[in-house]
Amino acid sequence: MSSTTETFEDRHREHDAVPATPPPGLPADPAASSDAAADSQSQLSEEMERIQRGYEASGEREHGPRLDYAPYRSSVLRHPTKDPHHVDPELIELSSPAFGHRDVGDLESDLTIQSGGEPIGERIKVRGRILDSAGRPVRGQLVEVWQANAAGRYIHKRDQHPAPIDPNFTGVGRCLTGQDGSYEFTTIKPGPYPWKNHRNAWRPAHIHFSLFGTDFTQRLITQMYFPGDPLFSLDPIYRSIVDDQARRRLVAEYDHEVSEHEWLLGYRWDIVLGGSNRTWTEPEEDER
Ligand SMILES: [Fe+2]
Repeated sequence: MSSTTETFEDRHREHDAVPATPPPGLPADPAASSDAAADSQSQLSEEMERIQRGYEASGEREHGPRLDYAPYRSSVLRHPTKDPHHVDPELIELSSPAFGHRDVGDLESDLTIQSGGEPIGERIKVRGRILDSAGRPVRGQLVEVWQANAAGRYIHKRDQHPAPIDPNFTGVGRCLTGQDGSYEFTTIKPGPYPWKNHRNAWRPAHIHFSLFGTDFTQRLITQMYFPGDPLFSLDPIYRSIVDDQARRRLVAEYDHEVSEHEWLLGYRWDIVLGGSNRTWTEPEEDER
């Protein structure tokens, strides 16, 4: 897979899923200090409820995540406190790698056929469209995904929690959107995994999405969740979007029309890039 995807994965692992046990020789992640990890889920839930009540009483409407959201412990010291600094995109574009349509193979959107054997888990298809604020399709868009395997384990040196690696599943894939803005991935449903935000902290199952734009300066990153996950109300990352409608836009719908007879279950998830119904995407400075 491209170096671009490896970079996403590295960044993701740094901020999102701090492994329960650091690999030998590596110091514990400072964001996962014993103080933070000592907090209980009930402490965290109480904090999140208090913030939620404050939001609902305010009468304001927010469409994105709160960057200053204390229950997400590892973001407390690193979240941006100033407006983004704008740089001349031409300077970046001159030295950034670019991709062409010929660089993305048709089979790269099927994460179940990348190795010699069948990966373990629930085979699924995720299908959707990338749309702008006016509902127009965004064509020829590079869409990249990365995810844990069915057991909740990433293939990454910093993920050492005791769940099995699947030798037939890398968890990365990509495709280009079609003329109607559509994308489609065949994959394995990812499992939830522990992280060291607090005691017994578990991320809801999710797939990371990256939309490239035409160059690095336009790259957008977000996460897709699965309907009915019991971990939603417990997860500080999901709940850092305090508006319920806004965070529900990150949850895919089960779609029986996408499911295939005796083969897989289907989900549908559209990404809207602007307007009041836009799908939340991570600020460039705060990828997780
Ligand atoms: Fe993740």
